[in-house]
Order: sequence, then structure tokens, then C-alpha cells
Amino acid sequence: MKNIILFADPGIDDSIAIMYALLNPDIRVLAIVSSYGNTSKEQATDNIAYLLKLAGREDIPIIGGTNSPSSGEIPTYYPEIHGQEGLGPIRPPESISGELTNFSELYKIIKDQDNITIVDVGRNTSLAALHLLGENIVEEIKEFYIMGGAFLVPGNVTPSAEANFYGDPIASQVVVRDLNNLYVVPLNVSNKAIITMDQIRYIQQMSDNPLIEIMDEVMEYYIDAYKKLVPGINGAPLHDVVTLSLMANPEMGKSIRREINILTTGTGMGTSIADFRPSSKPAEKNINIFLELDYPMFVEDFINVMGKADGKP
Ligand code: RIB
Ligand code: CA
Repeated sequence: MKNIILFADPGIDDSIAIMYALLNPDIRVLAIVSSYGNTSKEQATDNIAYLLKLAGREDIPIIGGTNSPSSGEIPTYYPEIHGQEGLGPIRPPESISGELTNFSELYKIIKDQDNITIVDVGRNTSLAALHLLGENIVEEIKEFYIMGGAFLVPGNVTPSAEANFYGDPIASQVVVRDLNNLYVVPLNVSNKAIITMDQIRYIQQMSDNPLIEIMDEVMEYYIDAYKKLVPGINGAPLHDVVTLSLMANPEMGKSIRREINILTTGTGMGTSIADFRPSSKPAEKNINIFLELDYPMFVEDFINVMGKADGKP
């Protein structure tokens, strides 16, 4: 069993990742940190609250993360990919208004519980804040899984930068510089974690869980958006889900231990760099970059976790 604190900015693939975490019997979600990213923090919070209500898991605290990047700039949101409210065509009911727990509660949760994995599938501002504000707090964490970066492959917001590292490269640089036992899941791997509408419909035949019932509408929107971005694609990559899936099943991928640097200014802002030359040395810290994914194993895991979800919570 993995005890996780999930940092997210839902967002469609974040929302499916939250569903996956809640439905996976091998994962215990201790808290979800809500931050700006694909949408505003307020909207992300309502989306998380809605998903927790559907799952009957309102006992899980939603921690108030950051509103904007370290640079102080106004964040850019992505309604064309994630929908106006971050859940494609779905708008959480008016009655849902996410209650936020103070950020300081995170420190208590971390002190009270051993063996915590932090999974960050959004901009890294809140994670960097946790580290910079809490003396040695990150040493209490067993491991970190973060979705971000693009190593020697095209980016998805600029020719070389991936959205999470681009969204706050200053915070991401702090994270890759200071954290230990870090596992990075970049576009090299996450772009391959494509789920199709046929697979979603198959899952829906297997489960009548309320979370699964909304998956087709959400995924249809996301897949349509991806079809405009990547001609010929037959589904859409679940970047944030594959990060959790790799955390639960690390044998599903292959990683390489290397130091990472992220460009914080200029036209290459957000670009992630690691040295893959044959003569390069492993990172001194335990920092690992996933570069390969067993795709059939990912699909099997996704279908198993989502399809076996019990009916009503
Ligand atoms: O680049 C993919 C990442 O950016 C994912 O976390 C997605 O949710 C978006 O925020
Ligand atoms: Ca995300």
C-alpha cells in the first residue's frame, strides 16, 4: 500500500488521475493539494471537491496550494484542452464549493505518517513552497513522483518545453535541484500513455461507479482536443495517470539516474536538460528519469483499476 499526497491542477488528465488514485486498492490518498495550472486554483478546488463527492471520499482534505507561479506572472490556463471549467463539458453542481484546508496542515500530515510518497502532476510551485517553507520537511518523504519535462523530444507548449515545467520553471528547478528519491515522468513516456474511447467504453461496461460514469464525456472532450493537436492520434495521452501508474508499478517503465536542469529564462524557458552522452555519470542524488514505458502493461493496469471499481461508494 502506498500512502500518497497528490498535488494536482484538474484539468482532465489530473481528474482521471484523481479517480485512478481513489479507485486503486493499492493507493491510500492522504490529501490532495489544489493549485493553479490547467485552470485556476478555485476551479481546480471545486473539481476536486466534486470528484471526492462522487467517490464518497469527502473525508480526504483538499489543501490550498498556490495561485500563481513564483515569477508573480498571471498564469495561462488551457480551456481549449481541458474545458472552461477544467472537466471538459462538465461543470460541478452549484452546490459544490470546495472547502480548503490550510497549507500548514500538510506539515502535520507528513509528521504524523510514515512512508509517504508525494506525487505532483501539476506546476511545481506548491511543492517547492512545501520544501522551502518547511525546514527539512522533504527528508520525511519516502519518494517523489513528478510529471514534467521533455528530454530530447518536442515539448507541448513550446518547441522544447513541457507544460508543468514551463508553467513555473523556477519552482521546477528548485524541485529537481533539492529533492532526493525523485522520479520524473516526462513527455518521452507520458505521450505514449494513450487511452482510446473504445477502452473508456469497455471500462464503463465493467463498472457503474459514479466516477466512471462521467469518464466518457470528459475523455471525449480531451480526445477531440488532442486530435486537433496531433493529427491521426486515436485517443489522448493520460500524462498524470501514467505518473501514478508508474508510482504503483515502477517495473512498468525504465528509468535512468541523471541530474536534471531546467532553463528558467529566455526562449528555451522550461526546457529540461540531462546529460545522456555515453560518458555521462549517474546523478549523485537518487534522481531518475523515466524514458521507457511498457504500454500494454499500462493499459492493463488502467483498465483493471478503473474497471474493477465497485458500484456505489
Ligand atoms: O504536459 C502535461 C501536463 O500538463 C499534465 O500534467 C497536464 O495536466 C498539464 O498540466
Ligand atoms: Ca496536470
